[in-house]
Amino acid sequence: MSKGTITALLKNVPLFEDFSEEELDSIAPLFHERTYKKGAFLFFEGDVGNEFYLIESGFVKISKLEDEKEITLALFRDGDFFGEMALVQKGFTRSATAETLERSKIYKLNRNDFHEFMLSSPKLCLNLLEVSMGRLRKANEQIHDLTFLDVRSRILKNIHRLSEDYGKPVQGGLLIDLKLTHQQLANIVGTVRETVTKVLQELQDRKVIVIENKRIIVTNLEKLKQY
Ligand code: CMP
Repeated sequence: MSKGTITALLKNVPLFEDFSEEELDSIAPLFHERTYKKGAFLFFEGDVGNEFYLIESGFVKISKLEDEKEITLALFRDGDFFGEMALVQKGFTRSATAETLERSKIYKLNRNDFHEFMLSSPKLCLNLLEVSMGRLRKANEQIHDLTFLDVRSRILKNIHRLSEDYGKPVQGGLLIDLKLTHQQLANIVGTVRETVTKVLQELQDRKVIVIENKRIIVTNLEKLKQY
């Protein structure tokens, strides 16, 4: 891919907002592009990490596994980055596993280039810090929810949150533009698949959501919030 095309893409990535065309041009050649098929593991928790990842298009899940049980920590889409922790924290390995949930086109920056770039750009460091603070807030909320909310409330809250993050207005409601299985939703919420299936059925019976083509459409947002 040409330098100009990468620059055009970087312009739309929040991490690089405030960067001039010349600055983006100077970093564009450092990115290596790779396309991964659905279900590919980019790295595993505990691996030595040497690359920073930026999603051009696709869908990536960040998760931790314990005794065959998985908890999903984050879902990343177009323009999101990950893999910075093992690069910023000296002597640490990957804190979680990254897997594509869709065919994904990804740009990678190697450790040395990432460090060089951070050293030369306070703007990038600030943007990185801002995004990291947002992720910390979300993680705090996840701890809160897992500690204080019952499973049903967590499922409802996560559907609401997904509708805020990925909702697209369609006729009859707000489409959560992600194909998630009940098991994947259970891993986000921290429960078992059967409970998710039960609550989703209840929400369909109460006409709060409909499910079309494995995707949830929230048809009554007010009711969802009330619950
Ligand atoms: P790293 O530890 O290098 O590899 C796993 C990546 O997942 C990590 O960098 C972050 O980019 C991302 N990550 C880990 N934990 C979270 C979290 N709680 N929320 C969002 N992203 C995370």
